[in-house]
Amino acid sequence: MQLPLQLSEEQIALQDEAKKFAVNEIRPVSRELDRDSTFPKELLKKAHSLGLVNLFQAEELGGTGLNLLSSCIVIEELAAGCAGVTTSIVANDLALIPIALHGTEEQKKKFIEPVCTKGSFASFCLSEPGAGSDAAGISCQLTKDGDNYILNGQKQWITNGGVASQYTVFATLDRDKRHKAICCVAVPADTPGITTGHHEDKLGQRCSNTTTVTFENVTVPGANLIGGEGNGFRVAMETLDLTRPMTAIIAVGIARAAFEYSCEYAQERKQFSQPIGSFQAIQFLLADMATNIDAARLLTHRSACLLDAGKSASLESSMAKRFSADMGMEVTTNAVQVFGGYGYTKEYPVEKLMRDAKLMQIYEGTSQIQRLVIAREILR
Ligand code: CAA
Repeated sequence: MQLPLQLSEEQIALQDEAKKFAVNEIRPVSRELDRDSTFPKELLKKAHSLGLVNLFQAEELGGTGLNLLSSCIVIEELAAGCAGVTTSIVANDLALIPIALHGTEEQKKKFIEPVCTKGSFASFCLSEPGAGSDAAGISCQLTKDGDNYILNGQKQWITNGGVASQYTVFATLDRDKRHKAICCVAVPADTPGITTGHHEDKLGQRCSNTTTVTFENVTVPGANLIGGEGNGFRVAMETLDLTRPMTAIIAVGIARAAFEYSCEYAQERKQFSQPIGSFQAIQFLLADMATNIDAARLLTHRSACLLDAGKSASLESSMAKRFSADMGMEVTTNAVQVFGGYGYTKEYPVEKLMRDAKLMQIYEGTSQIQRLVIAREILR
């Protein structure tokens, strides 16, 4: 496996298209979406019509059919426009990848194709009020009932929860058996017994729709079981191995935006009769930002290339996610520092980037969980 250090012509074209969309369509509305915590439905419809959603899903099922590396190249550009919008986009792939990896051909047609072709939303439902980092400790209950299952329980922090047409739900046949009893099921959102909570009023990525999803005696046909009984935990972990590079690159996009704004500002803003960029205090901040953004992108592209080559890459995926998320927080915090008092106000874009960056250290496995995965892999 060789890490391509130069993008192909096709990747450059994809990057340009995503950048154009981010600059012309996302950035002009991102402040307002953030202020009002508005889910960007129309914007996402447009992104879908341009092939910027369901990036990793097969073309024959209505997806864009990109590999992971090309998906990451697109996602970085979108995230430099607005991370909240991008999280809403990436959440679809997160929800569909379990089915793409472990679904039968019939299940892929039934559960991936309609979401991709109609441009609707899907949600990955793993976390619960009492089970976040401890994913094997989930308590959503799946009970056998003839050819069907009955699903009961609540999911929390569900991206696209209130707008999804379909949920990919992880639930247990027997909580005491932890990961050995977890199952993955595809559940259409219009199934009787499903209710969603309010759009969470979050610190950052405020436009992305995050809700609870509650299942009360929901009938799930046995045909909706993805990957077999008791295999749900493996389905979830393999999915997260694949999506952590996508999440890592969102952090890279956020950090890059903060870095670019900082460079511009450092050349414009004068103190002591000179642009502040002429002082080493600022130059060193910018130098570290540039270096760390590149390092995060390289780690992320490496994990994507490994996964594209069909190799297992839990270690590299977690390294990319851990480094990029922490880097994103540091870079955006320093960007606020470069802007000084102005950076602390909503008049300038960097405070939003800092708020958006914080979530990267929390969702899809906290930075601490990534360290745990990394340590286990290196000591194995
Ligand atoms: N691939 C395949 N199998 C895996 C695996 C992987 N990457 N990781 C673990 N497994 C298997 C193990 O081999 C083991 O199988 P056996 O019993 O056959 O040996 C089994 O799964 C259990 O593994 P562990 O003993 O390692 O399980 P654990 O309980 O110690 O948990 C963990 C491991 C890494 C902490 C895991 O719970 C985890 O990743 N937690 C974080 C959860 C997370 O990322 N949540 C994010 C939710 S999604 C989200 O945020 C989305 C959103 O909406 C934005």
